[in-house]
Amino acid sequence: MKKSLALIISLLLVLLGVSACTNNTGGNNNNDNNNNNNNNVSGTTLPDITERNVLVAYFSCTGNTEAVAGIIADETGGVLHEIIPEVPYTEEDLDYYSGGRADIEQADPDARPAIANTVENMQDFETIFLGYPIWHGQAPKIVYTFLESYDFSGKTIVPFCTSGSSGIGSSDDNLHSLAEDAEWLEGRRFPGNENAQTIQQWLEDLNLNFTDDVSDFDLKSGVNGHAPTVMLNSGYEMPVLGLGTYSLHGDTCKNSVRTALESGVRLIDTASAYGNEEEIGEAIREAIDDGIVEREDIFVITKIYPGSEMANPEHSIQACLDRLNIGYVDMMLLHHPDTNDVKAYKAMEEFAESGQIRSLGLSNWYIEEIDDFIAQVDIMPALVQNEIHIYYQERDVVPYMHDLGIVMQAWYPFGGRGHTSEILNDPTILAIAEAHDRTAAQVILRWHLQRGVAAIPGSSDPDHIRENISVFDFSLTDEEMTRIAALDRGEKHDWY
Ligand SMILES: Cc1cc2nc3c(=O)[nH]c(=O)nc-3n(C[C@H](O)[C@H](O)[C@H](O)COP(=O)(O)O)c2cc1C
Repeated sequence: MKKSLALIISLLLVLLGVSACTNNTGGNNNNDNNNNNNNNVSGTTLPDITERNVLVAYFSCTGNTEAVAGIIADETGGVLHEIIPEVPYTEEDLDYYSGGRADIEQADPDARPAIANTVENMQDFETIFLGYPIWHGQAPKIVYTFLESYDFSGKTIVPFCTSGSSGIGSSDDNLHSLAEDAEWLEGRRFPGNENAQTIQQWLEDLNLNFTDDVSDFDLKSGVNGHAPTVMLNSGYEMPVLGLGTYSLHGDTCKNSVRTALESGVRLIDTASAYGNEEEIGEAIREAIDDGIVEREDIFVITKIYPGSEMANPEHSIQACLDRLNIGYVDMMLLHHPDTNDVKAYKAMEEFAESGQIRSLGLSNWYIEEIDDFIAQVDIMPALVQNEIHIYYQERDVVPYMHDLGIVMQAWYPFGGRGHTSEILNDPTILAIAEAHDRTAAQVILRWHLQRGVAAIPGSSDPDHIRENISVFDFSLTDEEMTRIAALDRGEKHDWY
């Protein structure tokens, strides 16, 4: 919705002929990027949450810097923001070495050309790409105005420029004093017609942790016994495989958690309703004491339940923390929608504020519930954990949540109680498993991960636990993924 609105606004602006400069003076007018991000004269408004980490602010008169900025925004999911001068630069103004306006401004240390628009929610951005053309070896003075207009403390600024031939030179270093509390990364110059691949490579080399595609897990970096992580919109990383603990209790539960941690599993999923938080906490503390893991290495999810728990959320959340007794909780979910779900989530937001919970999410949430919910809360959910398996693939819900920047996670990845045997013996799955010399369970988990769905298979069998974390030495072909996609029956196995 927001994207469509932004697109309409952008189109209107284009129709009205609004641009930073009234005239183009030639150069490489690579103005044809298809970025639909906000670019609003009065102000850049709140972006979709997936895009909130990265702002790509740029000043451009002849389109060269704009083209590079567009590619950066596309690649990072960042919000594009054009710095628009209050008084547009005419062709004459830009005619350099003629004593025109641009020449005069560049020669005047105090020149600060006024800017017509603002970034209204600068506080939401962590990384700012700042683009400008080189004017007489330096950044145009309007970039100085921009930097003096906001508080950049704690943010990372990545300068980039385009030029006829000059390098970035001292132009980026000379900006540092204008936002000295920011972390400045080394700047980079591009020719105006730089190809997207070079820019992609530069972005990759920067190794920044901006929120990116939450459906594209880096499975190549996983090895058996060590699942890769996905970056959540909360800024924390979550392993893409974990241990589900529904129906595990007492020593069975403790042993499962212990085996999982010893086998390399780093995500443990529990819930207040499972009635096993105490033993899970105990198993984790013991594993920490025995030097098997450190607290920071593991990711623990718990959930509060509808009814009295959500009606008294502060009490219920504190009770989860107390029962687990492992310091903070990595992720807390609302177990199901409920009349008090917004109230309960807001209480979780308070706990997130104080650091006792790191990320927030939802379980058993579907398209019809999510938009209305998001509109009422401040912190975007980082995760939606739903029933997902080969017979209930949620092929509409998964991409919908991904587009919101929400990671999807499957409970019942093997179809759930009473159905596991059928799913693990599905002829298509068995044929694919045989072709790869893997088990049916491994093929199914690999399928979940390759379609960008994290999974929490539950098991108390040490062999199964080890098997389930060993899906990183093979991959399914596109044809196999398609064959599995065809197994979808829209067949839900639980009541939620
Ligand atoms: C006032 C002015 C001064 C310039 N000075 C330089 C310069 O010192 N070195 C250089 O290589 N290009 C210089 N250029 C060229 C621009 O840096 C180059 O065309 C840039 O890509 C334009 O970016 P834009 O299309 O985003 O406005 C200058 C251009 C102008 C208008």
